[in-house]
Amino acid sequence: MAANRWFESVAVAQRRAKSRLPRSVYSALVAGSERGTTMDDNLHAFGELGFAPHVADQPARRELATTVMGQSLSFPVVVSPTGVQAVHPDGEVAVARAAASRGVAAGLSSFSSKPVEEVVAANPKTFFQLYWSGTRDEIAGRMERARAAGCPGMIATLDWSFATARDWGSPFVPERLDVRAALRLAPEALARPGWLWSWLRTGALPALTVPNMARPGEPPPSFFGAYGEWMQTSPPTWDDVAWMVSTWHGPFMLKGVIRVDDAKRAVDAGASAISVSNHGGNNLDGTPATIRALPAVARAVGDQVEVVLDGGVRRGSDVVKALALGARAVMVGRAPLWGLAANGQAGVENVLDVLRSGIDSTLRAIGRPSVQDLCSEDVVVPAGFLRQLG
Ligand SMILES: Cc1cc2nc3c(=O)[nH]c(=O)nc-3n(C[C@H](O)[C@H](O)[C@H](O)COP(=O)(O)O)c2cc1C
Repeated sequence: MAANRWFESVAVAQRRAKSRLPRSVYSALVAGSERGTTMDDNLHAFGELGFAPHVADQPARRELATTVMGQSLSFPVVVSPTGVQAVHPDGEVAVARAAASRGVAAGLSSFSSKPVEEVVAANPKTFFQLYWSGTRDEIAGRMERARAAGCPGMIATLDWSFATARDWGSPFVPERLDVRAALRLAPEALARPGWLWSWLRTGALPALTVPNMARPGEPPPSFFGAYGEWMQTSPPTWDDVAWMVSTWHGPFMLKGVIRVDDAKRAVDAGASAISVSNHGGNNLDGTPATIRALPAVARAVGDQVEVVLDGGVRRGSDVVKALALGARAVMVGRAPLWGLAANGQAGVENVLDVLRSGIDSTLRAIGRPSVQDLCSEDVVVPAGFLRQLG
């Protein structure tokens, strides 16, 4: 293993993650759905946008700080909620520590491997992410638990439609790591001794349970047990969204909004923030890249709610492009997961540092002293790039 595990870009972190993780775990993080069109478009659309840099009169110092849902961020990035089972034994706690050390907030998935109490203790700027699963009482119970743990904000993700088939095939994920599953996964785990040792030295193997979906007084359900309950729950109505907002009664983000009409309804339901998101392309394939849909949404509701974007952000210049086109901040999903897989907490910190320094150098080049000054003139948008949905 290299003595210096620092990496210079998220792409390098991803390559390290690929060589360190068992094939199935890596492929679960790549995720995507159907043809992978949306996942690819999220990435490539950022590459279609350009800059027109200056050569003199650039600001000597740049201000990167902002706030999202009442939490101060030292730069405009929030770690997006992701289920990161089996990537690293410290999982979401390592991510939370890294986010805290770099002064940013993080979302915590309902399907995370660590209890919300442990994660908030590592980073008080933890937003709990909720799915519409089970009864209203059960959903209210999860919100209450997050509030008692100290979460300052709630993220409801409602764009999941259970479309998970992939043309390139999905990894084998066992219900639990019993002897049969362990034997089946042994060849790929043994081929990744660094990853295997990181688990073996903790004396445990991935539990594959989701503690934040536990009913009071009951043990955590398995991932698939909780997933089954979620699948059987009728989709929420806008009344249910308004109910969630009023039940939480605090900063509330609706994640997964991509249409202008839905963004307006989210405002009517009382949300304080929305994330223009397509679940990282893991959901309904054919949904356009979020950066294409962002400007229309930001124009429609940006003065009424905080608009953030997630999907395809891999470098600081992507963050600047999103802010120039109307986002207040971005959320990053896979980038911190690659860092976590490559080098644990230090790897997530490394990813956050790569993003922060990329934002700073881009601001310098385009001559903007603050992230608050960014506007659409700061990016070169090719004809036909944008999409107005709804
Ligand atoms: C492996 C994986 C698991 C995810 N799990 C969740 C989740 O539990 N809850 C959620 O709201 N979003 C989840 N997402 C979506 C992310 O929060 C985010 O929307 C997406 O990853 C952003 O795209 P990016 O990965 O290109 O940054 C997941 C994404 C990935 C890749």
